[in-house]
Amino acid sequence: MFKANDNYLKLPGDYLFSEIASRIAAYGAQNPDKAGRVVRLGIGDVTQPLAPSIVEALHAAVDEMGDATTFRGYAPDLGYDFLRETIAECDFKSRGALVEADEVFVSDGAKSDCANIQEIFSADARIAVCDPVYPVYVDSNVMAGRTGTYDAATGLWSDVEYMPCTREGGFTPRLPDADADVSLVYLCFPNNPTGAAIAKPQLQAWVDYANEHGAVIVYDAAYEAYISDSGLPHSIYECDGARRCAIEIRSFSKNAGFTGTRLGYTVVPRDLKDARGISMHDLWARRHGTKFNGAPYIVQRAGEAVYSERGHFETREQIAYYMENARIIREGLAEAGYEVFGGVNAPYLWLAVPDGMSSWQFFDLLLETVQVVGTPGSGFGPSGEGYFRLTAFGSRESAEEAVRRIRSL
Ligand code: MLT
Repeated sequence: MFKANDNYLKLPGDYLFSEIASRIAAYGAQNPDKAGRVVRLGIGDVTQPLAPSIVEALHAAVDEMGDATTFRGYAPDLGYDFLRETIAECDFKSRGALVEADEVFVSDGAKSDCANIQEIFSADARIAVCDPVYPVYVDSNVMAGRTGTYDAATGLWSDVEYMPCTREGGFTPRLPDADADVSLVYLCFPNNPTGAAIAKPQLQAWVDYANEHGAVIVYDAAYEAYISDSGLPHSIYECDGARRCAIEIRSFSKNAGFTGTRLGYTVVPRDLKDARGISMHDLWARRHGTKFNGAPYIVQRAGEAVYSERGHFETREQIAYYMENARIIREGLAEAGYEVFGGVNAPYLWLAVPDGMSSWQFFDLLLETVQVVGTPGSGFGPSGEGYFRLTAFGSRESAEEAVRRIRSL
């Protein structure tokens, strides 16, 4: 008789956002009169339609696919050169960061890359994650059997190095102790879920740490387009030595509204080699070639349009719209006496829940009394307990309505 992968049985509960969706569905089924009133600021899903220049690029590419002379079959596994070159130029070289087009691996989104990247590291690699953290980094390593045993009382895995990100520390992690023996460090800035940003000297300290200790940083920069402080780094490759120790993952979901269109990329520099001199770039190319048949041509053309002059202008307007939502939520809740963090360089607001309540109790209170949905901080890890995440990706009306309702509590 066949046997399922035991590692999957270790995963506690459902994926966070699936759990929230089921709770909303259950609430709606029990309260049909209120179901239509629910304001959803839980999962960070965009609500603005694709920008006109992106839609035009999609239409043009669809026409090409419908014409025998311009039709394309399988895309190159690693991405079309037109997109890889545009990314290397516009996202990196223009900021003084050296990334070559053939170091950019185009994919169907940052979530898949975040989950898959661990495959090219050894089975006993010890991972370090921020706490709270985007659950995909930990869960994908659980599936790979790398995290040891789960302690339901603490919410911690025995073989994971947790780096608590607390309000006292500005929600940024401290470097692990010298004896932590960490191989793979996941960092996400601007941060999901806390909305914290990292300054260049702090990020440089991480790069120096990784180079000194032979660790790799997986840098998730999915929210870099939301940085508003001009001094903050947009890419880890703005730091000296990052090409030897860092992989960067980017998304088109949040900067251009591709959550349903699917496009992302990962940079693995050629200088990134393990202790034996093995090229992680070559391993990732090998993996991509074996397990992925390339992002669709029409979507890659849409991605290219994001970098056009019009595309840039239109997507910047969308980002400004969401950041205005962030301001409305931040200021509205702060005036009502809530302590609110984030929302300045990131589309997430991280608020301290009222004294004596847990994150899930606050979730239930908001859903049941004012029909507002957010994400309980503890869903991102034990240090998220006592906090609650709201996204700025809703419509203006939903941001204003959520503030009005929460204030009425
Ligand atoms: C979130 O809400 O944290 C994001 O939507 C997750 C994601 O981008 O996968």
